Amino acid sequence: MTARKAGVVGWPIHHSRSPLIHRYWLRQLGIDGDYIPIAVPPAKAREFFLTFGKSGYVGGNVTVPHKETAFASVDIAEDAAEALGAVNTIWLEDDGRLAGTNTDAAGFLANLDLAIPGWSEEGQTAIVLGAGGAARAVVWSLLQRAFDSVIIVNRTGERAKSLADRFGNRVRHSDWPSVGDYLGQAQLLVNATSLGMIGQPPLPLDVSALRDDTIVVDLVYAPLRTALLRDAQIRGLRTVDGVGMLLHQAVPGFEKWFGARPEVTTELRELVIADLARPS
Ligand code: ATR
Repeated sequence: MTARKAGVVGWPIHHSRSPLIHRYWLRQLGIDGDYIPIAVPPAKAREFFLTFGKSGYVGGNVTVPHKETAFASVDIAEDAAEALGAVNTIWLEDDGRLAGTNTDAAGFLANLDLAIPGWSEEGQTAIVLGAGGAARAVVWSLLQRAFDSVIIVNRTGERAKSLADRFGNRVRHSDWPSVGDYLGQAQLLVNATSLGMIGQPPLPLDVSALRDDTIVVDLVYAPLRTALLRDAQIRGLRTVDGVGMLLHQAVPGFEKWFGARPEVTTELRELVIADLARPS
């Protein structure tokens, strides 16, 4: 059998950690394959997906800014992709059709399941900070886990409203000045904004107003220990950092393309953390 080849398509693409992750798994599992960064400018994205069957790739990941174009271009979209309106994983079916899914929600849940077993119970409340693509995946995943109430807090109110409207009456929205009204209600708080990331403004949030049982998740992974996570830990709360989701969302794609389910090992986590710490 010829070596299978997958890749990650985006613009720009040089900072993607996906090649590091998938090549680690290829080595670890002794699979003769490759995983390559593929730079595709926005003007060429649609054509790239429509002619993917002739590319020589068996599939791949899709990253910024092509996730919506990929969704609009695949022949078959799985439920997660339909729910999120975005595709981050594609593969060719045996009949040559291009299929796509979105593994962000599954990655978010798998990471939490592993980090804090039993973290979700029916009827809980969550606050999700942000209303972009990452927030959308988090909100949808929490509804899958029977959260009763999800409150979206975002700088741009319109985006928060349209995200809330998309997911029905268990999801509400609020603005930053009112966030304090909700902090005492939530069993889960997720930062899905870019606030707190290196080079971005800090996240303005008073963790002292959270409940003692609130779990705090930050999707930001550069730095790994954000000010939010540090403050929450000092407050005695359970926290989950952003690298886990990055690793777990990669698992289903690898399995589709290379036929073996890879493991998120401590060694892989350390490898990615070390790479994130390298000056780019
Ligand atoms: P992603 O796809 O990773 O979610 P995104 O769609 O760019 O990325 O979303 C970034 C999120 O961070 C948004 O919720 C954004 O708020 P707006 O919808 O108001 O843009 C939020 N964000 C980024 N910079 C921010 C800032 N300086 N203050 C408040 N929120 C910010």
